[in-house]
Order: sequence, then structure tokens, then C-alpha cells
Amino acid sequence: MSVIKTENLTKIYRMGHTKIYALDHVNLSFEKGEFAGLVGPSGSGKTTFLNMVGILDKPTEGRVIVMGKETSSLNQKEAALFRRKYIGFIFQTFNLFPHYTAFENVEFPLLLLDLSTEERKERVMEALEMVNLAHRANSKPSELSGGERQRVAIARAIVKRPEIILADEPTANLDAKNSYNVLDIMADINEKLKATFIFATHDEKVIKYLRRKITLNDGKVVKDEVMK
Ligand SMILES: Nc1ncnc2c1ncn2[C@@H]1O[C@H](COP(=O)(O)OP(=O)(O)OP(=O)(O)O)[C@@H](O)[C@H]1O
Ligand SMILES: [Mg+2]
Repeated sequence: MSVIKTENLTKIYRMGHTKIYALDHVNLSFEKGEFAGLVGPSGSGKTTFLNMVGILDKPTEGRVIVMGKETSSLNQKEAALFRRKYIGFIFQTFNLFPHYTAFENVEFPLLLLDLSTEERKERVMEALEMVNLAHRANSKPSELSGGERQRVAIARAIVKRPEIILADEPTANLDAKNSYNVLDIMADINEKLKATFIFATHDEKVIKYLRRKITLNDGKVVKDEVMK
């Protein structure tokens, strides 16, 4: 079973009288444990694709099947539960809560699960250890560097051990050293947890790590390559 499968996935935005095909009949599937990336020029549909697969937005046409489930049949509440269970998001703007510590930010997705305080603490510290930030658990985002904040966002995305991790330009605000650092961490998580990663990126550093590179242009898949 594919973890993710799209069938004729199409998203049209209307701007006055013109139609923009952000995605144009995209047929892709992803198997468990893939480390794949969408590349292509600005406006080619990468973010739109991640939004559809993350069930943050609905297709105009076509289907998105995640973990065997046809997602258009989910209502808003079911979609939220489904996301919470299976999907971790790592976005360019880290979206951390500024008044929460690193620990509390990572703990947040676990609050809705039925775990004891001790179990939660263990899982949070384990996730912070995976991104080498256990020693900064009590720091707030404003006290952390950009790279450290991005690593907190990664810890938050992995703390529930999701099957799928969607990462939109995760290195955009990082220097080279921190970019390689978070990429090593994500590759490690991919290997250890067998989570399926899909990136959207322009960054050559990210592209070097990909095992599959999918090129979009004007909302269409123009190339789908296995790397190395
Ligand atoms: N809410 C919206 N309303 C109208 N058009 C939109 C909307 N969101 C995206 N688009 C258009 O859809 C197309 C695809 O956008 P998308 O954000 O997916 O591109 P992208 O490949 O992620 O680009 P970038 O590399 O710049 O992030 C673009 O032409 C964009 O202008
Ligand atoms: Mg984008």
C-alpha cells in the first residue's frame, strides 16, 4: 500500500476571469520510508501539493489517498484528527509559540493524546535529544538561534512519530552549517523511524540529500527521478 497516492490531483485558483492551474492532473505515489522532494520554479505548485497531501486544502478535481484513506470523504474535524495522527509539518516559518519553552512547544501535539505526564516528558525529551537540543528544553524561541528554532520545529513534527513528514523549504532561513545539521537529523529520523519525507525546496543542499527528485512545472510533473 502506498502511504500517499494522488490521482489526477488538480487545484485551480480563479483570479478574476483567469484560471491558474496550481496543480494539473498530478499522479504520484509515495511508499513508506521515502525521502523525496518536489523541485521546480517558483509558482510551479510545490506548496500547493504539500497542502493537498496534508489535507489543509481541498482539490478542485482528483483524489488524494493518504494511508489508504480517500481524504475528500473526511469532514473538517475528521481531517484534523487524521492529520494529528499521521502527519508532521515542518514549514519555513517555524510557527513556534513564542511564550512557550522548547519543551512546551514540542509537548503541545501530545496534549491531545491519552498519555501520562511522565510518558509525555519522556517522549518530548527523546525528540529534543534527536535534534540535539535536550540541554535547551527550558529556553523560549526568542532565546534560540534560527537553526535551533528550526530543530525545535522538527522535534515537534516528529514527537508523535508520524508516518508522514511534510517539509516546505525547511532550510530557507538557515545558513549552510545549520542546513546540513537539520538535513542530517531528518535523514537520521527517516532511517530510524521509517517516516516518509516529502520536501518542497529550491535548496541545492536539500536536493543533494534526496533519494527521489520530482520536478514540477506549471502544476505538472515533468520529471520523476531516482537519485544516486
Ligand atoms: N491562495 C491562492 N490564490 C490564488 N493563487 C494561488 C494561491 N496559492 C497559490 N496560488 C498560485 O498557484 C501557483 C502555485 O503556487 P505554489 O505556492 O504551490 O508554488 P510553489 O511551487 O510553492 O512556489 P515557491 O517556490 O515560490 O514557494 C502559483 O501560480 C500561485 O500564484
Ligand atoms: Mg512554495
